[in-house]
Order: sequence, then structure tokens, then C-alpha cells
Amino acid sequence: MSERDARNGRGRYLVTSALPYANGPLHVGQIVGAYLPADVFVRYLRMRGEDVVYVCGTDEHGVPITLTAEREGKDPKDVVDYWWAHMKETFARIRIGFDNFSRTSTPLHAENTQLFYRKLKEGGYITQAESKQMYSPTEGRFLPDRYVEGTCPVCGYKEARGDQCDNCGSWYEAYELIDPHSKVTGGPVEVRETTHLYLDLPKFSERLREYIGGQEHWRTSVKNFVLGVIDGGLEKRPITRDITWGVPIPEPGFEDKRFYVWFDAPIGYVSSTMEWAEKIGEPDRWREYWQEPDTKLIHFIGKDNTVFHSLVWPAQLMGTAEDGEEPFILPYDVPANEFMNLEVVVDGEPRAMQMSTSRNLAVWLHEALDSFPADLLRFYLASNLPETGDVVFSWREFQSRVNSDLIGTLGNYVNRTLSFMEKYFDGEVTRPGEVPLEAREALDDVKEIEARYEERMYAGRPREALGELLAMSRRANRFFDASAPWKSRKDDPEAARTALYYCCVLLGTIAYHAAPYVPEAVQRLRTFFDGPVERISDLYPPQSYRGSGAKPLFRRVEDEEVAAAEEKLRRAAKGDV
Ligand code: MF3
Ligand code: ZN
Repeated sequence: MSERDARNGRGRYLVTSALPYANGPLHVGQIVGAYLPADVFVRYLRMRGEDVVYVCGTDEHGVPITLTAEREGKDPKDVVDYWWAHMKETFARIRIGFDNFSRTSTPLHAENTQLFYRKLKEGGYITQAESKQMYSPTEGRFLPDRYVEGTCPVCGYKEARGDQCDNCGSWYEAYELIDPHSKVTGGPVEVRETTHLYLDLPKFSERLREYIGGQEHWRTSVKNFVLGVIDGGLEKRPITRDITWGVPIPEPGFEDKRFYVWFDAPIGYVSSTMEWAEKIGEPDRWREYWQEPDTKLIHFIGKDNTVFHSLVWPAQLMGTAEDGEEPFILPYDVPANEFMNLEVVVDGEPRAMQMSTSRNLAVWLHEALDSFPADLLRFYLASNLPETGDVVFSWREFQSRVNSDLIGTLGNYVNRTLSFMEKYFDGEVTRPGEVPLEAREALDDVKEIEARYEERMYAGRPREALGELLAMSRRANRFFDASAPWKSRKDDPEAARTALYYCCVLLGTIAYHAAPYVPEAVQRLRTFFDGPVERISDLYPPQSYRGSGAKPLFRRVEDEEVAAAEEKLRRAAKGDV
């Protein structure tokens, strides 16, 4: 996203976060990849008066689901029902404010998927062919890619998945794996012929190259990666699988097969938007967001989803545009975030380890929310978003960021301003006649910081914008210190009152920019701070500010809490949980 976007406007945005597989609890690594950055961005756009719809939902097909169901001896439907509800609740608890949280097992979504298929077929982008598929003689069935594991043909990584290597990101066919075996039984698998439908990606090569090449505002890492994939030569991709859980295929002879999960999943964004429009009683409204060319469609994802969102999905969208009906727009941006590792402290030594959901080596969001308020977690995670490179989650750092930055810098400024005002000025300061020089300078500085914050935020970089929010708070503290109202209130009470008035101006601006990160605290602040919470550039200074009964906005994180949280990870890392 670009600087040019930074303006007050009625731009139209459709923002999405990757649909999480409904097969387990959410962990902090997922949150920092696709959800928190999108939510902060959306909250900010709304405050700026932009027209935004933010959709998500669970991804309920595919092998991650059926593997879980098999492992737990359950029906896939029961697995997804349970986790859909769990995830919806967890997202609400951490205040990720989707306009709609759908799921891909709805009848509407099946219809949409089949419609996309038909349109692609009419456009001549679907072919049929025999293919080689991994077959497990012991299990008597074809094995989906994810049931197969082997050595990556590109980098030699030993535990490469059937469709993609988690180590080098390569993307291949399962039969290209070296030494393939079943993930379920560990037994060897063989190659057999089966018939599948294919999306003719090569037909889109030129258009995709042109589309992606023209995206000046995309992150260079994303852009270069995708251009590299196109230059490497695209191949037809199978969009059907020999499975029974998924969207049925409207073709004779394909009754025992289903669409591949990555064919239907991104269509889930469309389905979720339609469901939203239905719910607000304007069933056609989804069209504004998917068909008006000036809508900005922005997909927040983790980097492992890049190829699907910035290459295959745009091809799906392009390929449905030729039947004379209103075409779909293409993604305006695909901000892909890097990964989050975990700090585990073993024998007093901090070590970064990869999260592992199967080993329970992760920070589960619902558990973290049992211990800490949403705002504290949001603040720390937002300060540590993997926008430009991998990051590490550390409970110690959580404590120090919260206690020193959030409470020591931002919270402290709010507290000292409000308690001083209440104690010495009966909770009210009126607008002074003139702006003293020191206040003028502070306002100007904050205005500059605000411009940087906004530029970063519109660029989809909430972590960098958070740095500016803290800079703003430090500048405000400096103004409070320099005007020393605790001294002047005795010998020059008017000067003290004037200073406090400008402290309130800064407070309202800090609260405005803090709101996307710590929405609960800012909501609470408004119950004891009576004055505009506003951008400094838009502020019309009010006649007076009032405040009384202020309470601390945040609670401290205690040593014992950190010790307990670290202990839990240490045990998981040792395998004794
Ligand atoms: N479920 C996938 C994952 O967790 C993401 C799907 S994003 C979608 O990796 F757009 F395709 F839905
Ligand atoms: Zn590899």
C-alpha cells in the first residue's frame, strides 16, 4: 500500500484475513500473521471515515481437517463445528472485529465454488487429465498430498509435506518427493493413475505477469517471489482430489471426488461477503466490494499462503471475468507476513524455537486470554509483528513492553495528566487565550509524528505505526515535564492550567492513535476523559476538557505470571506435558 493513499476519505475497502483451518485452537503465530495487523488496519480506516468491510471465516475442507478427524476418531463435520465456534469466540475475546465470520461448509459457499468452476470451464480454463497420485496399498485408498511426507526434491528437507516444503517454500507434486511415505501409517506409498480436473494456469501467465509487475505498492518480497514463480514457468494445477470431504464437483464421473481445498477456500472470502450482505438486509451490497473497480481488496496472510493468494486466486478471478457478467476485481494488495518463533528459557538461557502445535509448543490464544487482558496481548503482539522478518514471542519481552512502554510511557502520561487536572483544577481546564511557545512546539512535533504514523498505517504496517504512537507519548511526557505544572501551580496557576489544557489536547490525540491497538482501554478512557479523541490535524480545540475519577488503563504484568508462562513452555519443549 502506498503513501498516496494517506488521505481522509471515503475510499472503499474489502479487507480479509486468511481463513484458518477449523481443526484446533488459535495460537499467537497465526494472530500476528493474518489477523491482528488486519484488525488494527481496519479499525484505523474506520476511524478515518473509510468505507470498510472486513471478512473472514473458517476453512473447513482439506486434509488438515480430515487428518484431525481421523486422529480423533470423529466426523469431520463435528471437528469443524467445534472449532468454528471456538475460533469465533477467541477472535471476539481478542477483539478482532470481523464484520462477518463465516465458514466454508455452508450451502452458499458450495454453490459459489461450483459457479466459479462453471465460469472457468466456460472460459476454457479447465482441462481434464489422467494423473499420477499417491496410493497407499495398505490403506486401500489414494492419499491426499498432506497425508504424504518425504524429502523435498528442491532443498532436501526430510519432513517435506506432499504439496509444499515448509523449509524452502517450494511447491511441487507429491510424486516428486524423494522416498515418499504415508503420514498416517508410515508405510510406503506408490504412484497410480487417476482422473482429475485442472486449472490451466499457463494461459494466465502473461496477464499475471503484467498484473503483478504493475503493483508498485506491493511488498517487494511478495512481488519478487511471485514473479519468480511465473518466470519459472506455470503448470496446470489439479483442482480436484480423490476424497469425500469437500465441495462436490458438478461433473459426471466425479461423484467420488471433491474440489481441492485451495480451489474453494479463497472463494470463501466472496461467500463470507455475501453472507454479510444478507445479514445486514442488503443482499446485493457484496457486489460493491467485489465488482466496483475502485474498491481496494486487501488480503492479509501468512507468507506460506503467498502463492495461492497472489497467483492462483487472481487467476481464478481473471478466468471468471469473461462470461459477460460483471467481472470481479483483483487483489489490490496481499500483505504477507513472516513467521513468529517462540522463546523458551532452558536453564536460564533463552532459545528461539519453532512453534509446534502437535507438540503443544505454542502460546494458545484462548489460554493467554485467560491470564491477560486482550489489550496487553494486542499491544505486545502489535509491537512485534513479523512485517519485515521473522520475530520471536517472548514472555519476558511481553512483560517489559507492557510495563515500560504501554504503562510507563503511554499509560503514565494519561494518568499524570488526568490526576493532576482532577487534584488541582477540579477536573476541568478551559481553553486559554494564547498558545504558549512550548505548547506550540509540542503540537507541531506531534503533528509531524502523526503524519508518519498515518503514512505507516495506510501502508499496512501497524508495527511501525505503533513506534510512532510511542514517540508521540514520549513527546507529550516531555512537554508535561518541561512545563512542570507541579511547580507553576503555586506561583503561576494560570500557566499551569494552560499547560494542562495542552496536555489534554495531546492526550486526546494519543488516545485516538492508540485506539486501533488497545480498543478496550480507549473505550474506558472515554468514561472519565471528556474531550475530543481526535487527530491533531483535525482538531478544533474545545472550550474545555474535563476529567474525573480516572483509573489506570492497564494492569502491570507481574514476575510470577511470566515465570508461570515460561514454565509451561519449558515443559512443552521437554515433552513432558
Ligand atoms: N486455511 C489456510 C491456512 O491456514 C488458509 C486459507 S486462506 C484462504 O493456511 F483464502 F484460502 F481461505
Ligand atoms: Zn524444500
